[in-house]
Amino acid sequence: MKGKDRILVAVDTPDLGRARELVQGLTGRVGGFKIGLEMFISHGPAFVREVLDGGGKVFLDLKLHDIPNTVAGAAGAAARYGVSFLTVHALGGPEMIRRGVVAAGAAAEAEGLPAPTVLAVTILTSHDDDELHKVGIDKSCGDAVLQLASMACAAGAGGAVCSPLEVAGVRERFPQGALVVPGIRPASAAADDQSRIATPARAVSSGADYLVIGRPITRSNNPADAAAAIAGEIDG
Ligand code: C5P
Repeated sequence: MKGKDRILVAVDTPDLGRARELVQGLTGRVGGFKIGLEMFISHGPAFVREVLDGGGKVFLDLKLHDIPNTVAGAAGAAARYGVSFLTVHALGGPEMIRRGVVAAGAAAEAEGLPAPTVLAVTILTSHDDDELHKVGIDKSCGDAVLQLASMACAAGAGGAVCSPLEVAGVRERFPQGALVVPGIRPASAAADDQSRIATPARAVSSGADYLVIGRPITRSNNPADAAAAIAGEIDG
């Protein structure tokens, strides 16, 4: 896969004009666009359709976590848009993951679309061991991530989202999965509020398939040039 196709740009603004500008300027120059909760709650399915109609791929990052029947319904609805990736929380358990994957596949097939890749989000990188213990998980974050990755793989998830620091271990447990990694900073960029970061080349050599990249591209004066430089860094 070419470096540019590995880049999923996080469209994290509630400003529709800015989001459109970013998507129009980057479609064809990156692998796709991550639409998360803020954007989706602000501008909804209409914006997802707009990106898809313009030829962009969509990673719908809504981190579904509910009873299996509800997640199946939501995953099916997301698949009918024609998104390429969608996320569920691994903590929802194997039955929820399995039902989400099956429903997404069936809905896509009914529409004549390729099935989206259902990605399991393991432990959010905002958590630490202490916080996990407070919610009743008596493991380290690292161990919990690996256990959840193994479980999600066995439940049929198409891949996982994890930090650059975890990706090598997750790759061992999820050999065929699509591993999607945020927390990417080009060698020259500011870390912003990210602490568990890696360069694009390092993340890919550790086993990442796709890199979620926000501010290093979206806050650049020239997002297309910033994306091209990162793609070059990956390919080089
Ligand atoms: O701007 P930046 O490159 O830090 O954006 C990263 C994107 O990835 C944001 O949408 C952020 O919410 C998301 N993300 C993350 N770390 C995680 C999970 C998601 O930075 N562990």
